[in-house]
Amino acid sequence: MPGANSFEYLPDGTTVHSSSAARLRLLYAPLCGVDGQGIKSAITPLLSGDIKIDKSRYLTKPASREDLRGPVRNFFLYTEKNGIKSAADAPDGEVVVELGQLWHKVTRLFPQQGLELSALTFVPVSGERMELTRFTVRNVSAVAVTYTPTAVVPIFARALANKHDHEHVTALLNRIEQADAGVVVEPTMLFNEEGHRPGRGVYYVFGAEGNGAAPVGTFPTVENFLGAGGDWSRPVAVLEDRKPTALVDAERNGSEAAGALRFATVTLGPGDSREYIVAVGMADSRESGLAEFSRFASAETLASALEENRRFWTAKTSTIEFSDGDKDFSAWMRWVTLQPILRRIFGCSFLPDHDYGKGGKGWRDIWQDLLSLILIEPEQVRDSLLNNFGGVRIDGSNATIIGQQPGEFVADRNAITRVWMDHGAWPFATTLLYINQTGDADLLFERTPYFVDPQMSRTMEKNSAWRPEYGNRLKDRRGNVYCGTVLEHILVQNLVQFFNVGEHNITRLESADWNDGLDMAFRRGESVAFMSFYAGNLLQIADLLERLAQARGLKDIVVAREVKALFDTLDQSVNYDDAAAKKRLLFEGYFKSVQPELSGETVGLDVGEVVRDLRRKGRWAAEKIRSQEMFFVEESGETFSLFNGYYDNDGRRVEGKCDGRMRMTLTGQVFPVMQGVASQDDIKKVVRTVNKYLRDRELGGFRLNTDFGVRHYLAMGRAFGFAFGTKENGAFFNHMSVMYAYALYKQNFAREGYEVLRSIYNLAVDGERAQIYPGIPEYFDSRGRGMYHFLTGSASWYILTLLTMAYGVRGELGDLVLAPRLVKEEFSSGLATVACQFAGRKITVQYVNPERLDFGQYRIQRVLLNGKA
Ligand code: G1P
Repeated sequence: MPGANSFEYLPDGTTVHSSSAARLRLLYAPLCGVDGQGIKSAITPLLSGDIKIDKSRYLTKPASREDLRGPVRNFFLYTEKNGIKSAADAPDGEVVVELGQLWHKVTRLFPQQGLELSALTFVPVSGERMELTRFTVRNVSAVAVTYTPTAVVPIFARALANKHDHEHVTALLNRIEQADAGVVVEPTMLFNEEGHRPGRGVYYVFGAEGNGAAPVGTFPTVENFLGAGGDWSRPVAVLEDRKPTALVDAERNGSEAAGALRFATVTLGPGDSREYIVAVGMADSRESGLAEFSRFASAETLASALEENRRFWTAKTSTIEFSDGDKDFSAWMRWVTLQPILRRIFGCSFLPDHDYGKGGKGWRDIWQDLLSLILIEPEQVRDSLLNNFGGVRIDGSNATIIGQQPGEFVADRNAITRVWMDHGAWPFATTLLYINQTGDADLLFERTPYFVDPQMSRTMEKNSAWRPEYGNRLKDRRGNVYCGTVLEHILVQNLVQFFNVGEHNITRLESADWNDGLDMAFRRGESVAFMSFYAGNLLQIADLLERLAQARGLKDIVVAREVKALFDTLDQSVNYDDAAAKKRLLFEGYFKSVQPELSGETVGLDVGEVVRDLRRKGRWAAEKIRSQEMFFVEESGETFSLFNGYYDNDGRRVEGKCDGRMRMTLTGQVFPVMQGVASQDDIKKVVRTVNKYLRDRELGGFRLNTDFGVRHYLAMGRAFGFAFGTKENGAFFNHMSVMYAYALYKQNFAREGYEVLRSIYNLAVDGERAQIYPGIPEYFDSRGRGMYHFLTGSASWYILTLLTMAYGVRGELGDLVLAPRLVKEEFSSGLATVACQFAGRKITVQYVNPERLDFGQYRIQRVLLNGKA
C-alpha cells in the first residue's frame, strides 16, 4: 500500500490496519465460507468485488480486475441538509480499513454530515450461503443528525458466462419479489443452450436493523432504484428521496434486480449509533432464505456469528506459527498459511485476477496445494490423495481438472486434447511428503482405478470407440474396472516419461510443462527441466522402496502384467542412448498392450530388482543432463555456467547467447539443483549465473527468465508474447522462485535459499510498489506490483520450504527429524521457534542460538523434550 509502512498489524498478530488502502481501487481481499460449496467473495475498501458460489451461481456480477473500479455493495446516507454520502464514494476524508482472517471492515468519516459509517463484512462459518455486512452509522458531531439509510446490492442471479452471453435474455428469467425483509430473485431456468434446466433456488438481499426491525420498503429492480437518469453512485431513489412502493408483476419480473433496501429515517443524538445488517445470499427457497437470515438478523446474533468466524479461521492459520523475533514476518506468514486453504475453497479462479474464471482446479495445482495441506490440515489429505490418483491414465498422463466431488475428473476444460509433460512428476513428490510426515506408507498399496477417455498414447492416438456410457474408469478385457496400487500409478507416471523422449533424448515438452505458457512446441520441444524432476523421482522412489524393504520386509510389489515392460532391465534392456528405441518400447510396446484395455493379470516383481532398475534409469538421466545440457557462456572475459532447460519446436536449444542477448530460464536451473542432478560445484556456478542474469538489481527478486527480446516466440509458446516482466515472461514468478529456494536449501545452500525467500517477502511488503494485502501473489511485475494475489501454489511451497528446510522440522517415514538450516538473521533474539503439527500432535520446536551463529557455524549440542534431556 502506498506510503512507507502504511499498514500495520494489530496486536492479535494477523489483522491488518491501513488508512491508505482505500486509495487503491484494485486492492481486494477474499471472504468465504468453510468449503468449496459455500460463498466466495472478493471485497475492496470501497466494497466492490463480487459474490458467487460457483460458475453457474453468481450472486453479483462477475468482477475481473478492472471491474473493481465500479461500485457493488453500497450503503447510502441521505441527509436533507448536507446531501448524500455512500460507502462506495471516492474517498474525500479519512477511510480506515481493517482486514482480518476472514473479515473486512472499512470505516469512513463524513465530517460535513457529522457521521461515521463502518461496514464489517464476513461469511458465516455455520454453512449458510450468504455474505453478511453490518453497517454502523455513528453521529460524531455535537448536534443531532437526521438521515435516511438505503442499502443496495445489485443481484445478478445467473452464470459467469452471462456477464456477456445472453445477458439480457437471462434477466428475462427473473421473477422478483418484494418481501418484508428484502428482495428475492428466483430465476425460472438456468439458461444453457446445451440443455436448459429449471432454476434451483433463490437469490436474495435481506436486511434488518440491529434491533431486528425490518426495512421500511424495497426498490427491487435496477430501473426502479436508479431511475432512467441515475447511476450506481447517484440512484434516483436516493437522490430524490423517493418512497419505496410495491411494484406490479410487469414492473418486477423479467428485470435486472437491484436488492435495494430502505430503512427508516432516523435522528441520532451526538455519540449515538445504529446498526444495519444486510445479507446477500442464496437459498433453496424464499422461506429457507428467510429462516437462515433470521439467525443473524440482530446485533447480538450477528456479533456472535462474527466471533465464531474469527475463532474458526484463527484456529486454521495458527496450525503453523513461526517466530524468529520479527513480529511482522510472523504475521505475514499467518496470511501465507491461509492461502492454501483459500485455494482449497476457491480453486484457482473466483478472485478478480484469474487465469481462467470457470472454477475447478488444475492437476498440477491440486498436488501443490496438498503439500501444505499435509502440514496444515493433515486430516483432510489421505482421501484426497487416493482419489486424485484415480485421475491418472495408464499412459502416465491424467485428467486435467478435478471436480468438486471425490473421484470426479474432467479431461479438459475447453475440450482441447492436450498433455502437460510435468503432471506426472508432482504426485510422487506430494505422496512422499505425506508418507514422511505421517509414516503412513500403507497408502502406497491402496488400490484405485485409472482414468480413461478417448485420449490415448499421450494424445498421439484417439479411441473413437469410447463412449461416455463406458465410464471414466479403465477396464480390463473382461469388463472389470482395473484397480492398481498407488505405487503402480506413481511408477507408470515416472517410467513412461523416462521413455517419452525427443530427438535430443530429453523428455518431450508435449503441450507444455509447469510453465503453461510454453505451449507451442508440441512436435519437437523437450524439457530438460522436468526430465531432471523425473530423474530425481526415479532415484527417490528407489530409496523409498529400499527403506520399506528394510523397515517392513517388503519383498515384492504387484503390478499389472503389462507394466513390467517399463522395467526393461528385468528382461531385455533397451539402450538408453538410443532415443528411438526408447520411444519404440513406449509407443509400440507398452501403450499397445494397455490401451484401450489391459489384461487384468498382475505379476509380482522383486523389490531389489525394481530398485536397481529405477536407479539405473535415474542415474542415466541425471548423467545425460549433466553431460549434455550444462554449458557456459562468456561475458566480459568471465564464464558463467548454466543448464539448458528446453529445446524448442525447431529442435533448437533455447538457452544461451542469441544475437548477443542472454537467454536463460530459472526453471531450467531449479530442477537439476533440487533433484541432485547438479553437483555441489555445479550449484555454486549456477547460483552465480542466476545472480548475474536473473536477479534484478533494483527489486532484488529473481526473474523467471531473461528478456529474449522478441515480439513472440512461436516455436516455444504464448508466454513470450506477454510483455517482458509480466507473468510467464520474465516476471518475478513466485512459485518458481520459492522452488528455487527449496532446491538451494535442500542442497545445503542455506544462505542462498534464505536470500531468495527473503527477496519475495521484501517485494510483498513493499507497500508502495506491491499494492496488495499480506501474502504471496502469483508474481510481481517489473514495477514490483503484486499480481494474482492469494490463489497461487507459491504459498504452499513457501510454507513447505520454511518449515521443512529452513527450520528443518520434518518427518522421515513418520519419525521426527530436526535439521535446521536457519541463518543468523533468523536468530535476532537468539531464538527461532515454530509451532506446527506432527504425526497428529501439536509440537513446538525452539532453537536456542544465543550467540547468533550462522548456518555452518552452529551444531546441535543438546535436545530437550518438555524440559528433559
Ligand atoms: C500458475 C498456475 C500453475 C502454473 C503456473 C505457471 O501458478 O496455477 O499451474 O504452473 O501458473 O504457468 P500459480 O498461480 O499457482 O502460482
